[in-house]
Amino acid sequence: MADTLSILQALSTEHFTSGAALAERFQCSRATISGALALSETYGIALERKHGVGYRLIPKVDWLDQRQLQAQLATNSQLQIRCTGITDSTNRQLLQNPGHGLALAAEWQTAGRGRRGRNWQGQIGSSLLFSLCWQFDGGPSQLAGLPLVVGLSVAQTLARLGVQDIALKWPNDLLLPMGHGWGKVGGILIEMQGDALGPSLVVIGIGLNVLAPPADVDQQASSLSGAGLGCTRNALLANLLQGLEQQLLQFAQDGFTDALIRQWESRHAWQGCEVEALLANGSRQRGKAVGLSADGNLRLATGAEEILLGSGDVSLRQSA
Ligand code: BTN
Repeated sequence: MADTLSILQALSTEHFTSGAALAERFQCSRATISGALALSETYGIALERKHGVGYRLIPKVDWLDQRQLQAQLATNSQLQIRCTGITDSTNRQLLQNPGHGLALAAEWQTAGRGRRGRNWQGQIGSSLLFSLCWQFDGGPSQLAGLPLVVGLSVAQTLARLGVQDIALKWPNDLLLPMGHGWGKVGGILIEMQGDALGPSLVVIGIGLNVLAPPADVDQQASSLSGAGLGCTRNALLANLLQGLEQQLLQFAQDGFTDALIRQWESRHAWQGCEVEALLANGSRQRGKAVGLSADGNLRLATGAEEILLGSGDVSLRQSA
């Protein structure tokens, strides 16, 4: 069955491919090809159509390439990378079919999940949408710093690949300076299964705006390509996974160390700034973001005292 994504992946930017050739390749009618490609703009991919000649892809797309990705990992890496075209959610897929060290990347998600029950939109050929499954021996109480460690790992890899200004917003949004504020370039959703005493199966889902932010997001959004990123989507993904593998192995051994806390704080967009937290009970709390506690809570100085904010139930914004 010819789906739009597979046909798009068969097209070139350099030459036209005829509807007849595509129909033969996908064993369907030319009308089916034309109907499937009519959806390409919905996916955010522009096509040139020439009557009697065929179709040409306008942007050159660095499609996810499982073999290329796997080959870019270090020889001692234990990660297994799988790529898929369209899926509901890479997090959901790995929670249903878990495996330690298994990574799943998709070109597009029909039901991408964000934090706090939101959706996560992506754009075909432009975003990176992937999840990594990891098993820890301990229970959830030993994994309190994990969301911060993951955010730090992603930020450090991005900085190494040229995105010097990448910053973190507690607990693990990825931001870039934009106008007088910040634009979100990525988010992390960690979902967990297991017993209180362990082992814990963790699915780490990461969404990044690589070439452009999705059109219909409800907050200031930015992308990595204009911020110094000097590599392709495939190379970026391989580097991110490699960085995560090393960081997770270290975290499993040493936990959320003081050194990690200091590194995280040095990348916190709002370190030392006045912020306002909207708590789960609807109340608001203002204070200065002074840093992280040993278990990854945000330390908020409110006059004479300091309170700790847990990530589960807080939304944070910078005070005017
Ligand atoms: C956030 O809301 O900031 C977190 C967004 C996490 C999105 C990623 S995209 C890949 C993975 N699969 C999902 O369904 N969600 C995560």
